[in-house]
Amino acid sequence: MDYADLAARIEALCHGETDTVALMATVVCELHHSHPFCDWTGFYRVTAPEVLKIGPYQGGHGCLVIPFARGVCGAAARSGRAQLVPDVEAFPGHIACSSSTRSELVIPVRNGAGQLLGVLDLDSDTEAAFTETDLAELSAILDRVFRDAV
Ligand code: SME
Repeated sequence: MDYADLAARIEALCHGETDTVALMATVVCELHHSHPFCDWTGFYRVTAPEVLKIGPYQGGHGCLVIPFARGVCGAAARSGRAQLVPDVEAFPGHIACSSSTRSELVIPVRNGAGQLLGVLDLDSDTEAAFTETDLAELSAILDRVFRDAV
């Protein structure tokens, strides 16, 4: 995975943009088609207190609403900490939008003011598909892209 190339492409495409949904759509498109193990890539947006709703995504249909109390996405949103899940069967309360999902990476997304905008959810049909490097590199890209998001 060439994160320098991915970051450069995303930052060039997003330059000057502050609309959160437009930024999310661009990140998802580029990431989904670049990462070898992404079978579902998408954002869930914070639309009300303790509520996530689906945002831009690539792959099969995803569930529309996730309360902060549920799933891997809810855990990332309520804790503020990324969730690196090598085996979704071992994650209590995992929400299976697809029965083929084996591993997952979910990263909270904040703007420069510290506002939680949502979470980025990567699902893979491959067990232990995501790494600490994926987490670190994607977190850095998200920080830069969403710094001025509104
Ligand atoms: N697996 C996520 C739900 C989102 S669907 O997989 C796209 C979760 O447990 O929160």
